[in-house]
Amino acid sequence: MDKDDKIRHLLDMREQARAGGGKKKIESQHARGKFTARERIEILLDDGSFEEYDMFVTHRCSDFGLAGKIFPGDGVVTGHGTIDGRVVFVYSQDFTVLGGSLSETFAKKICKIMDQAMKVGAPIIGINDSGGARIQEGVLSLAGYAEIFQRNIMASGVIPQISAIFGPCAGGAVYSPALTDVIIMSDKTSYMFVTGPKVTKSVTGEVISTEELGGAAVHTSRSGVAHFRAEDEEEGLMIIRKLLEYLPQNNLEDPPVTESTDAPERADDILNTIIPARSNQAYDMKDVIYTLVDNKEFLEMHRHFARNIIVGFAKFSGIPVGIVANQPNYLAGVIDTDASRKAARFVRFCDSFNVPIVTLVDVPGFMPGSAQEYGGIIIQGAKLLFAYGEATVPKITVTLRKSYGGAHDVMGCKQLRGDLNYAWPSAEIAVMGAQAAVEILEGKNAGKITDAEEKTRYITEKEMEYNEKFANPYVAARFGLIDDVIEPRNTRFRIIRGLQTLATKKDLVPPKKHSNMPL
Ligand code: HXC
Repeated sequence: MDKDDKIRHLLDMREQARAGGGKKKIESQHARGKFTARERIEILLDDGSFEEYDMFVTHRCSDFGLAGKIFPGDGVVTGHGTIDGRVVFVYSQDFTVLGGSLSETFAKKICKIMDQAMKVGAPIIGINDSGGARIQEGVLSLAGYAEIFQRNIMASGVIPQISAIFGPCAGGAVYSPALTDVIIMSDKTSYMFVTGPKVTKSVTGEVISTEELGGAAVHTSRSGVAHFRAEDEEEGLMIIRKLLEYLPQNNLEDPPVTESTDAPERADDILNTIIPARSNQAYDMKDVIYTLVDNKEFLEMHRHFARNIIVGFAKFSGIPVGIVANQPNYLAGVIDTDASRKAARFVRFCDSFNVPIVTLVDVPGFMPGSAQEYGGIIIQGAKLLFAYGEATVPKITVTLRKSYGGAHDVMGCKQLRGDLNYAWPSAEIAVMGAQAAVEILEGKNAGKITDAEEKTRYITEKEMEYNEKFANPYVAARFGLIDDVIEPRNTRFRIIRGLQTLATKKDLVPPKKHSNMPL
């Protein structure tokens, strides 16, 4: 071969690799409303930034007819590129090649870029679309998965790991995404389950569709496995780009602070009247969030799961923060098992990557009942408590209205190393609400009153007395349990000044192998 031939040969080989599983398979992928592995990378990354690795890697298996089925690249596209100019590593499983099934070499390609991402200290993004372990390769494929899992575990809390699920993700294959920080699923075209509908039917007799068992709707609303349900793949990929705006490249860096066009001193009069007159009346906490943050931009995670608590990212004068907020509009903002684990996971995510936490409190307490107790509300609630107490990032808590009982302690209170704890004048910080308190304290006395009218009057009087005494922020303020009672309209400004002051905050956990948090 002369020099020109060699170059032509290289270009041909590249062309062959880029063709994946071939024209027909690509057409079939498109017909299902799915992009190919390479198209996804192109949409995700900055234009022209992708550098591909291992384009010429092929599998080494000759069993079950695989000798004749060699595809350069072996079903996964790997490499690095940039998102908004910042380096990211990416792998994208190619369903057009042997159903995106994972071989020994396929796994090695993924591991190579995971190792690179760790050395460089840059996020890794995995796009999943695969029939699982390559059946012909047997245990080598299982070993390949385990190699990836081990790297996911080592990378956890060091570099952000984001998983997109844009097709099948079944069996043990689900565990790599599950080990990462965020899972995004495309609606109707993706599914995740440990065992599919066929095995489910033969083992348990349950008849259930793929979508019902492991579709995006199920995992973003019922199981909480996935954080985002994207209408289509393009939206899913844009969510990844957006998410990275709030995260540092690795745990040794701070999240990127950007210029803000929204005035830090912007006061919002609407906040002075947003709390309804009656204490048990609902309002939408998202209205408060959108009013407070820069340019009304809030990237909500887990939007459809445990809606009684809200978590997500926003910026205050360009400073990225994680927001945790009770939602009075849904189950009165009560804390239940799902809300606890949702918020605990988010607090730890923020803390791993040095993202300050702003907590907005309006919580009537923990959800009572056998379902909650049997569901382990004790352990689930402890998770949230643990996460707040362990977190060393700046923590600012604003109590808008209710902050009752154990839920008060759990929602970023002062003694769990809250840095700045503010309350609005409408705050009610107490052991429990007036009705429950009077029932316990005055139940016997009330019981002695035979006249119904007089009894009601007595109870109402006692409730009013209790409310006056306890259902306000000033008892807590008197004891220094909150730092200040603030005018609601000034909340944005007070949070921003707090974040700026706390930017150099240092806090530690004692040296230990790791904590034994209640899991
Ligand atoms: C090898 C596979 C494959 C696999 C699909 N293919 N899955 N090849 N190993 N796991 C191949 C098919 O033979 C076919 O090849 C091509 O990919 C496309 O597959 P189709 O079946 O035609 O596509 P579709 O109808 O869309 O169905 C997709 C599918 C189905 C639902 C994913 O292929 C399927 O059920 N595959 C098996 C899934 C599975 O049981 N995997 C193992 C799970 S256990 P040709 O040559 O015809 O194009 C597991 C353990 C991991 O993953 C453990 C980790 C700890």
